Amino acid sequence: MSTGESFYITTPIFYVNDVPHIGHAYTEVAADVLARWHRARGDDTWFLTGTDEHGQKILRTATANDTTPQAWADKLVSESWLPLLNAINISNDDFIRTTDERHETSVRIFLQRLFDAGHIYTGEYKGYYCVGCEEYKQLSDLVDGTGPYEGQLVCAIHSKPVELLEEKNYFFRMSDFADRLLALYEEQPDFIQPESARNEVISFVKRGLDDLSISRSSFDWGVKIPWDDSHIVYVWFEALMNYATAVGYGVDDELFARRWPATHIVGKDILRFHAVIWPAMLLALDEKPPARVFGHGWLLVGGEKMSKSKLTGIAPQAITDTFGVDAFRYYFLRAIAFGQDGSFSWEDLSARYQAELANGFGNLASRVIAMVSRYRDGAIPAAGELTAADERVRTVAREVTATADAAIDRLAIHESIAAIWQLVDELNGYITSQEPWALAKDPANSGRLDTVLATAVHGLGTLAVLLAPVIPDAAGTLWAALGGSGAVSEQRIGSADEWSGSGAVTPLERPLFPRIEVTA
Ligand code: ME8
Ligand code: MG
Repeated sequence: MSTGESFYITTPIFYVNDVPHIGHAYTEVAADVLARWHRARGDDTWFLTGTDEHGQKILRTATANDTTPQAWADKLVSESWLPLLNAINISNDDFIRTTDERHETSVRIFLQRLFDAGHIYTGEYKGYYCVGCEEYKQLSDLVDGTGPYEGQLVCAIHSKPVELLEEKNYFFRMSDFADRLLALYEEQPDFIQPESARNEVISFVKRGLDDLSISRSSFDWGVKIPWDDSHIVYVWFEALMNYATAVGYGVDDELFARRWPATHIVGKDILRFHAVIWPAMLLALDEKPPARVFGHGWLLVGGEKMSKSKLTGIAPQAITDTFGVDAFRYYFLRAIAFGQDGSFSWEDLSARYQAELANGFGNLASRVIAMVSRYRDGAIPAAGELTAADERVRTVAREVTATADAAIDRLAIHESIAAIWQLVDELNGYITSQEPWALAKDPANSGRLDTVLATAVHGLGTLAVLLAPVIPDAAGTLWAALGGSGAVSEQRIGSADEWSGSGAVTPLERPLFPRIEVTA
């Protein structure tokens, strides 16, 4: 068990052209569970998220809304993006905006160093650009438009026409780094995850890398190039640097050394930026590449990626208002194998809520606590001699603690939750087979009843600690009801199965996951 190790985790910084949907919330929750888990291990954890505010896309949105890009970004951040974090219980340690002075300062240092080291030159860019993607496109990235765009080439992702750019730009000599990147992927097989993402990136880099245009001069919503203020930095080049600028790159070397490198959680749509361009930028400055880049799958609507631009986004509040925050967090991480795509459906959410959270876990907690209250006046009894069934509960608790913890190291969040759920199932089976209500009828079985209740309470305590990163509110409520001392989040994951209650329980005022009447 690692303790005190540095763990720096990030989400993408999201564009503020529009409000968040459940796809963004999914990334936030996944990163949040990892951050909370590592804190509960005692790791020196830092969780960064934020917003990407420069570039043409934001500029155009602001202009279309008769405002300035800064005013637009301020509005979206305060009215939508910060409230999202609150709405889904995100425990980020920092929130970076690319319009922060600290970011712009570090970006200029980063660029100047690249320039001084000879990695940047002046060139001529002629080619396509998709403002929706904020990305330079090859002909092979484009498809024939339909409807209003019949006869034009459109971006395969946004289905909107691309623009033909012809500009004098600064270029980053990315082509120099193909071999070093391939060596990195080879030497550090878990650098890009999952495996399918790794394979895709490797075959992309094996085809060779072009140099990258890193500046624009036809508009000015961005960070000025330090040695030429008629250019601003290409928005992606600048955005990627946020992971370094937020932890003091070029300004606070001690802090940077303490935090860097990071584990980046991103959607697979932006995997190449993170697994190719960003590590190349770092290698150019002799900095460590990121620790890992995990490209998770997409939430799909009608088989297509849910998106702002296609107006298929579902607001997180549409789900949390009915099912609650914990159920939101649990559902997406449990139902979708982390790394694969998943289709959201109300039916599936509702069915899992009922079966797993309300009946499986919540009801277990209510029943055990109610029995301790009823049969023992709330005092948690000590266990007597253990039978094979009691031993098994303890063994399962110990094993799932280890399995769940190991799964987190592989970023296999769904496997971690599945492991924890083995203990939920084990405890439900245990209560059914031990029939504490029958034992309670005969005072001669009093010792046995003590052991059964103690065993069940012990299992619930383990669950509270293990589930706290995923469903923090319910786990906290359970922990308090079990008389656990301190906050559940302060308990160590590694010893989750060692806790055994010794005080008194307090009955739950309401079920952890109340029954929900779903109105269609
Ligand atoms: O790309 N399913 O920002 P963005 C799952 N600013 N995740 C989804 C999703 C979906 N349907 N839709 C969006 C950008 N996401 C850049 C990033 S980082 C230096 C700059 C999530 O607002 C997922 O994490 O378009 C995806 O990668 C991200 O939102 C894209 O957010
Ligand atoms: Mg996008």
